[in-house]
Amino acid sequence: MAKLSIKDLPLKNKRLLMRVDFNVPQDESGQITDDIRIRASLPTIKYALDNGVSKLILMSHLGRPDGEVKEKLRLNPVGQRLSKLLGEKVCKLDDCIGPEIAESIKKAKERVVLLENLRFHKEEEKNDPNFAKQLASLGDFFVNDAFGTAHRAHASTEGVTHYLKSAAGFLLDKEIQYLGEALEKPVQPFMVILGGVKVSDKIAVIENLLPKAQSILIGGGMAYTFLKAQGVKIGKSKLEAEKVDFAGEILKKAQQLGKKIVLPLDHVVATGLDSPQTAKIINDVNIPDDLVGLDIGPKTIKLFKDELKNALIICWNGPLGVSEIKEFSRGTKEIMEFITNLKAVTILGGGDTAAAASQFKLDSLVTHISTGGGASLEYMEGKVLPGIAALTDR
Ligand code: 3PG
Repeated sequence: MAKLSIKDLPLKNKRLLMRVDFNVPQDESGQITDDIRIRASLPTIKYALDNGVSKLILMSHLGRPDGEVKEKLRLNPVGQRLSKLLGEKVCKLDDCIGPEIAESIKKAKERVVLLENLRFHKEEEKNDPNFAKQLASLGDFFVNDAFGTAHRAHASTEGVTHYLKSAAGFLLDKEIQYLGEALEKPVQPFMVILGGVKVSDKIAVIENLLPKAQSILIGGGMAYTFLKAQGVKIGKSKLEAEKVDFAGEILKKAQQLGKKIVLPLDHVVATGLDSPQTAKIINDVNIPDDLVGLDIGPKTIKLFKDELKNALIICWNGPLGVSEIKEFSRGTKEIMEFITNLKAVTILGGGDTAAAASQFKLDSLVTHISTGGGASLEYMEGKVLPGIAALTDR
């Protein structure tokens, strides 16, 4: 069922409580190393301000403090970065609930207020109704723009929706449109690219998307477990021995369904991940005993391009090699460049795939890059995300 959007709310002179996912990476000194998640919520924040909210009250978690105040996980650096990006002062508070917080919000001169890390209270992750009610009392309406946390049924994502009319922000809406609706009944030819280290992380994604996709192209560490299931020699490459049977069953199921699972034909190998100077191409599907497969080879790149060229939707999760190391990055880079030149809708999910897109400066050419890690994987698995399901129906 379609959900209310922020555009459906009469925001003028109202207090808007907004859940954002400002769970950003920081270095040892607390410096934010990537602010994409803050920037991704700016359109919704600016829309609320442009439409005359009396106060915009933002709430987020940061890290996993397990219900205790951890100085390093305060949201102060996030507030400073937000203020810089917005070009106006943000009032950062030291807690998120209670009469003093309500009073501080009332008195604040700034239009934007940022509450303290929600997870300093154990009630947040427990989805405690009283905690949710206290959060809800700070606003007249609730907007969720925290896609990265939409797979968690927490007080600030699910609980508050029991007390306030609740709508999706633009970021959440976009994720619903691309990861939800586009993958639910995809336009054909729909193709999936899967990579990354482990088959076990992608089992439910494969099971959900195999009946919907025309082909699934597999690279990265997880490809070797599939090759092993076909009796290929994989040398010292990544193997999940307990998943070989699953891989074999998937290959059989694909055949029964008339779907293609496309696996590597050749490889870039080395003596180990820490020896990129030994990288070389093996013009064969079999890998010698003393070598590790770390990227797809040129024949596989060509094979993947031939397969993908007619796709209308491409969904990709997980790099095809160890893409952060130059010697093992060619497969991911070439395939990503290729798909961004197709007319297909291209959807990328998962932190490593998003990082690869920005490393190769292709991020602006992809149709949609999901801001969620676990959330985008669960969405691709076809699961209902509680943070979305709880929003008010249209
Ligand atoms: C994420 O980074 O995936 C989200 O912010 C959710 O964080 P969590 O896994 O700690 O709930």
